[in-house]
Amino acid sequence: TRQWRGVIEEYRDRLPVSASTPVVTLREGGTPLVPAQVLSERTGCEVHLKVEGANPTGSFKDRGMTMAISRAKEEGARAVICASTGNTSASAAAYAVRAGMVCAVLVPSGKIALGKMGQALVHGARILQVDGNFDDCLTLARDLADKYPVALVNSVNPVRIEGQKTAAFEIVDMLGDAPDIHVLPVGNAGNITAYWRGYQEYAKDGLAARRPRMWGYQAAGSAPIVNGAPVTSPQTIATAIRIGNPASWDFALAARDESGGHIDSVTDRQILSAYRLLASQEGVFVEPSSAASVAGLLKAAELGLVDRGQRIVCTVTGNGLKDPDWAVAGAPKPVVVPVDAGAAAAQLGLDG
Ligand code: F0G
Repeated sequence: TRQWRGVIEEYRDRLPVSASTPVVTLREGGTPLVPAQVLSERTGCEVHLKVEGANPTGSFKDRGMTMAISRAKEEGARAVICASTGNTSASAAAYAVRAGMVCAVLVPSGKIALGKMGQALVHGARILQVDGNFDDCLTLARDLADKYPVALVNSVNPVRIEGQKTAAFEIVDMLGDAPDIHVLPVGNAGNITAYWRGYQEYAKDGLAARRPRMWGYQAAGSAPIVNGAPVTSPQTIATAIRIGNPASWDFALAARDESGGHIDSVTDRQILSAYRLLASQEGVFVEPSSAASVAGLLKAAELGLVDRGQRIVCTVTGNGLKDPDWAVAGAPKPVVVPVDAGAAAAQLGLDG
């Protein structure tokens, strides 16, 4: 029996590594592509979920981080830094441990989910809460990487994008071709850039007959690409994509236009409704930001933009356990019962 080796070993010939690159891996990638029955019925399409919360640190960031940390180690870096809304920092912290490096993370003060903060802390990262938003954190991280001996592992580091494109490879490898439409949440816009790169690469090399239309969704209060202008004070409950000035903005526009796709926004209400649908009807627990893809698909279906019979993949980017507040909020508090079958059965409605 052979286990999945991680994205670098599985796709070595398609990634910027050499025989002498030290591979730092937690065996990321190889994530489930799960048929979504309820979403398929609702849209009249064949909908699949690429469940990226199944990665080692619970988000798609691990695909890029194995590349960024391996290359940083090869180049002799002893410390890495990133700005993050939480998942990048969790991933960087874990991979830095594997590489024996120091990890510094800059997060927007009070605006990252507790699970993600816990990950960075337990992996021993040096965390600074910045009095500003994600965009301010990224500016500061770039400045520090310019002036001090510390390697930047945000997705402005091109090898991150290279690692993340492997998700598109996996989908084509599973389905035998690219889907008709690929839907994903957009924050800093690295991931939509990466998927488009992956799909294009496979099509160019004859491994896929077609390329999907790329559909990206921002949160309505943080939708600079949709608005066509940076948002100075982005707002949304989907903290992972609370970003007002995406670093990969131009690449996202290219992915949209070259693929004949679109980038639109979904409200927090639509995000939370998709979040609950995924958990209660598909059995897939994601963090709120991840549900933006599914919220977008449902919005597009309501607008009549989804022709029946298409094959659609929605990436759900992060694990629901990272941000459980939204699962508990508004839900009835579980009843306390004595150790008594009759009482428990009565509460459960099993007694007729
Ligand atoms: N979904 C989740 C769960 C994320 O953590 C992110 C980005 C996105 C979607 C958006 O992806 O930025 O490539 O468009 N999180 C970054 C972070 C910003 O710091 O963890 P993107």
